[in-house]
Amino acid sequence: MNKTPHIGVDKEGIIAKTILLPGDPLRAKFIAETYLENPVQFNAVRNAFGYTGTYNGKQISVMGTGMGMPSIGIYSYELIHTYGVENLIRVGSCGAFQRDLNLYDVIIGMSASTNSNFASQYDLNGTYAPTASWKLLSKAVEVAKEKGTPVTVGNILSSDIFYDDNPDVWKKWARLGVLAVEMEAAALYMNAARAGVNALCILTVSDSLVTHEVTTSEERQTAFTKMMEIALELA
Ligand code: HPA
Repeated sequence: MNKTPHIGVDKEGIIAKTILLPGDPLRAKFIAETYLENPVQFNAVRNAFGYTGTYNGKQISVMGTGMGMPSIGIYSYELIHTYGVENLIRVGSCGAFQRDLNLYDVIIGMSASTNSNFASQYDLNGTYAPTASWKLLSKAVEVAKEKGTPVTVGNILSSDIFYDDNPDVWKKWARLGVLAVEMEAAALYMNAARAGVNALCILTVSDSLVTHEVTTSEERQTAFTKMMEIALELA
């Protein structure tokens, strides 16, 4: 087996069939150290730290993807096509578009609208609707119910732009019921769909475009435990 350009693993079986994908590599390290038994680091290329361990006896991996659709597009493609990963679960933060969403609320992206050009590679004659895996989505909702964690499930926006020249453009997505903005899910959903594997994006609200409330980066790195505990059960 050959290494891919971005993941430094050349042995079979070191990456689990199920992987959690935070954007921040330090969050991957935190998840591995906090939740996994016997975590072994498998990647440090570009500091995109990746680990495999077990959770409740089941093998699971976690790896940082970096920010944005080009970055998660690369990592998810290599994980699926070279390393045989079958369940890819992004665990990230998002900016809320709706007034009834509060800091630390958990959102699950049933679908991911996008302003990205990622789908142009498929040469479709229409607009593709990037969609979560029903298998992972339904299980995540079930797990959340069992744990008593309220979740809001719906359409999210995967944006290429954090600092938009038009600071009000988000309101147009909001009025179509889009819940929140992040920057990766649509590419993950498309790569998974194209390959016939499963993807899901679980998010915690880190800021609100409606109220301008924000969390700090220290809080973000560690405080999103409810989301992570749902994701870990999906192995
Ligand atoms: N925009 C884009 N991505 C984000 C945001 C945001 O406001 N908050 C967390 N991820």
